[in-house]
Amino acid sequence: MLVVENSPLYSADFFAVDDPWSYLSDLRENHPVSIHRRSDGYEFHALTRYADVYDAYVDHTRLSSAYGTMIDGSYRPEKDSASGRMLIVADRPEHTALRRPIKHSGFNRNMLDRAGRTVRRNLRAVLGELSVGDRIDFDKVVAPELPKGVLEVLFGIAPSDARTLLEATRTMIGYRDEAYTGASPLESLVDAQMDVLDFIDDLIGQRIEAGSGDDMIGFLAGLVSSGDMPRDVALLNGLNVAVGGNETTPHTASLTVDTIHRERAQWLKVVAGDVPAETATQEFLRWTSTNSYVQRLTVADFPVGGEVIPAGSFVTLWNMAANRDPAVFDHPDSFVIDRQDNRQLAFGAGIHRCIGAPVATLEIQTFVEELAAWDKAFVVVEEPQRLRSNFMLGLTRLPVEVVDAKDVGA
Ligand code: HEM
Repeated sequence: MLVVENSPLYSADFFAVDDPWSYLSDLRENHPVSIHRRSDGYEFHALTRYADVYDAYVDHTRLSSAYGTMIDGSYRPEKDSASGRMLIVADRPEHTALRRPIKHSGFNRNMLDRAGRTVRRNLRAVLGELSVGDRIDFDKVVAPELPKGVLEVLFGIAPSDARTLLEATRTMIGYRDEAYTGASPLESLVDAQMDVLDFIDDLIGQRIEAGSGDDMIGFLAGLVSSGDMPRDVALLNGLNVAVGGNETTPHTASLTVDTIHRERAQWLKVVAGDVPAETATQEFLRWTSTNSYVQRLTVADFPVGGEVIPAGSFVTLWNMAANRDPAVFDHPDSFVIDRQDNRQLAFGAGIHRCIGAPVATLEIQTFVEELAAWDKAFVVVEEPQRLRSNFMLGLTRLPVEVVDAKDVGA
């Protein structure tokens, strides 16, 4: 099995300025299971084939999430501090007990409908304010409107509070990028995490007093009041939803605009109504693969891809490599806006499959629909700046100019 010393997969810079897609493609074709070491002794196995990544996602007995799902999430094979109490780092049976109330409170049909309407309203407002000739950073002006609308509904908060919360979660995930943190990443990470937890704690406190349960926070506050959920568990899961929701879809939206710019001829098929927004959305999700990988720890020997990964090993499941596997996708390295039977793995699989997948898909689809119906269009006018992160693929700067839609062929 290939062993890579000082692997670039650890390097945020490699993901910001180099070509991680080709590197992972090469691994998938030649070394589908490989080991990646760092000089300080950290080591993980990398899975890059669709079938192996999928098998790992659904093997809930041999692979544990409780030791952190990010590289360095838990430095030694020790449980994450939130293990068993926060969805993403809980195994069965704790995971089942947590997922049910959270799904029921925040991810039901009613919340989805309300979130969709709020996102559409916010997007129309922000797009409606733009005039031909305006130059903006899409990443700062438009992208945050997607999760903002969801937060307003799920957390029952004002748009200005939703913006504040968004900024804090952004620092948590992008803490290795100076665009968010300045010079002291770890301090910024801890400060931001405390800010988010304080914010959610205040909200839960207010709802317990008010006794209202019309949204996710209200429902969790009800469980805390009745003694059915400890307050720290409600807090941690509020944090999980806020981070999961805020730090993904804006990056997908920015990369979507960049892709539209590069693939204008294909995009015009959506504008003309020849390709449904739903189909295009699935391809944007595959193509952008915003959450590049997740990590697990093997708690028993794990046979995969013709190898056996010993118990006690970290394993990374590379969504971005699986989503370009030629065994599953024709022309995997091409963006194909009307791709059929798109089994993209952007949201993972198995019991941890993104709880926000329906709302995230709705956000992106609503964005696609609103852009297609807009009488204007975005043209990228400077090279976009990629996020310094090996975990989230996104942009920190996307300079665009607003032009008349007719000028780009619509
Ligand atoms: C394009 C957008 C998104 C992508 C690519 C994405 C990706 C993922 C992936 C790959 C997982 C699985 C993690 C694992 O197996 O360890 C996950 C889990 C999760 N996501 Fe998302 N996500 C997105 C949007 C959202 C949104 C909008 C929310 C909430 C509003 C959200 C909340 C969560 C939560 C709470 C989990 C943990 C679920 C569990 O462990 O049971 N995500 N997401």
